[in-house]
Formats: sequence, C-alpha cells, structure tokens
Amino acid sequence: MKRLAGKNALITGAARGIGRSFAEAYIREGAKVAIADIDLERAQRSAAELGDNAIAIKMDVTSQESIDAGVAQAIDAFGQIDILINNAAIFTAAPIVEIDRDDFQRVFDINVSGTLFTLQAVARHMIDKGIKGKIINMASQAGRRGESLVAVYCATKAAIISLTQSAGLNLIQHGINVNAISPGVVDGEHWDGVDAFFAKYENKEPGQKKREVGLSVPYGRMGTAEDLTGMAIFLASDDADYIVSQTYNVDGGQWMS
Ligand SMILES: NC(=O)c1ccc[n+]([C@@H]2O[C@H](COP(=O)([O-])OP(=O)(O)OC[C@H]3O[C@@H](n4cnc5c(N)ncnc54)[C@H](O)[C@@H]3O)[C@@H](O)[C@H]2O)c1
Repeated sequence: MKRLAGKNALITGAARGIGRSFAEAYIREGAKVAIADIDLERAQRSAAELGDNAIAIKMDVTSQESIDAGVAQAIDAFGQIDILINNAAIFTAAPIVEIDRDDFQRVFDINVSGTLFTLQAVARHMIDKGIKGKIINMASQAGRRGESLVAVYCATKAAIISLTQSAGLNLIQHGINVNAISPGVVDGEHWDGVDAFFAKYENKEPGQKKREVGLSVPYGRMGTAEDLTGMAIFLASDDADYIVSQTYNVDGGQWMS
C-alpha cells in the first residue's frame, strides 16, 4: 500500500539534495510532486528524471509574487496541494566580528521569511479548500544550539523550530499539521559549501571538516538524503495526524531532545 497515494506535494528547493530525495520518495509512495526552486533549469532536469508525476516550478521564496505564482501553478497542475515541505535554505558562516549585514539579511530572507510566507500561502489554500494538509519545515541540529562560526545560519534554524511550534498550534484547528525535521550533517553539494567555509576559517584542507564531522556522528558516518525520507513520508501521512508542532531529530544520534 502506497502511503501517499492520491496526495499532491509542493517541495521548495527540491531541484537537488535533500529536497530532490524527498520528491523521489514521495513519488515512490504514490504522490505527485511540484519541484519548486529558484534554479528552474535544475528543477526541470530533476522533474524529467523523476517522471510524469513530477513537475518543475520556478519559485524564489524571497519574493511574495514568486511564492504566490508558484503555489498557483502547482494548484493549476494538480487541483490542490496536500503537502508542503519548506526545504529551500542556504548556509553561511563567519566569525561574529565579520558578519555582514547584507549576508545576514539574505540568509534570513530565504531561510526564515521564505519558510513563513510559503507556509502562509499554502495554509490559506488548505483552509480555503478544507484540506487537512501536512506542512513540514526543514530545521537543523544547527537550530538546537549556537556554533562559534555559524551564528546566522544557526539563528535561522532556531527560528524555524519556533515558527513550527507557533504555526502548528495555530493551524491544527483547521486540521493542518505543521512539524519539522532536524537533520544533522548530510552529505551533498550543500555540505561541500559548508566544508569550504571551514577550510577558510579553521585553516583546514578541503574535505577535512567533512571527514571529521562524519567520524563524530554516533552512527559512524554523515547522513545521506535518503536517511531522511522515512521521516518525511511519515510526517506527510495520515499516521502523523495527531502530531503537532514537533521537530524530530534525524541525525544518527547527534542531538537528544
Ligand atoms: N545538508 C545538510 O547537512 C543539512 C543539515 C541540516 C539541515 N539541512 C537543511 O535541509 C534543507 C535542504 O538542504 P540541502 O543539503 O539539500 O541543500 P542544497 O543546498 O543542496 O539545496 C538547497 C536548494 O534550495 C534552492 N534555493 C536556494 N535559494 C532559494 C530560493 N530563494 N528560492 C527557492 N529555492 C532556493 C537551491 O537552488 C537548492 O536547489 C535546507 O533547509 C537545509 O538547511 C541540511
């Protein structure tokens, strides 16, 4: 029995990485998926690889106009949206005394405002149509506690945990569940960028930080995007109906809360 049969999902930032794996897993479980990304070309390539149940949508989550147009496009294509994953985000790092105001704003605009206002647009649609939907936000172990060089990104992910709590409490009266997934360290292009920041600020060889963090995970290795798909399917399924405002760690034992 496919666990998401007949469901339609919109996943932001799904052109690559974790979001793409979520799209693939959702399609395997019977859903149709709109891959919404600022990188339309890559989104189109991923959608083509995933087959007829995937469509690509250009969406920049920092623009309300783009969010509204993207949500409307997914509704046009599928009829309705049952599941939203707020997955688009970027990473940044710098010592406190070097944090740049424009970089701070850019990261908050994508990671926090992008999540809140995409959630808002989809929640309005769900309420309007009486859809008992599921909304999943991507947090991070970085949101559980600060890191010396990662103040801004950590603060955005702490904000996601808090927004998940408030949105979940506010929307459950409509039968909409809002929860979050908190990964640890997940291998992929995102972490190649993280590794480059640490090479610069901690004077490490390229790839060294990645090896070190992998060894420090209790499970014994970095995560893969596929390690997260089980939780993403569960939180989008009817089995999660009674789960409200939670953030789940899927991190090989990194964090306990
Ligand atoms: N990789 C990790 O180790 C890790 C750990 C914890 C949490 N996370 C979180 O998981 C999520 C996915 O991470 P990933 O590793 O797949 O990242 P990634 O960098 O591989 O993918 C991010 C995607 O978001 C898209 N994007 C960027 N800006 C956008 C915008 N303004 N509008 C729409 N799309 C935009 C990018 O084009 C890209 O396709 C993020 O929320 C990230 O913070 C990742």
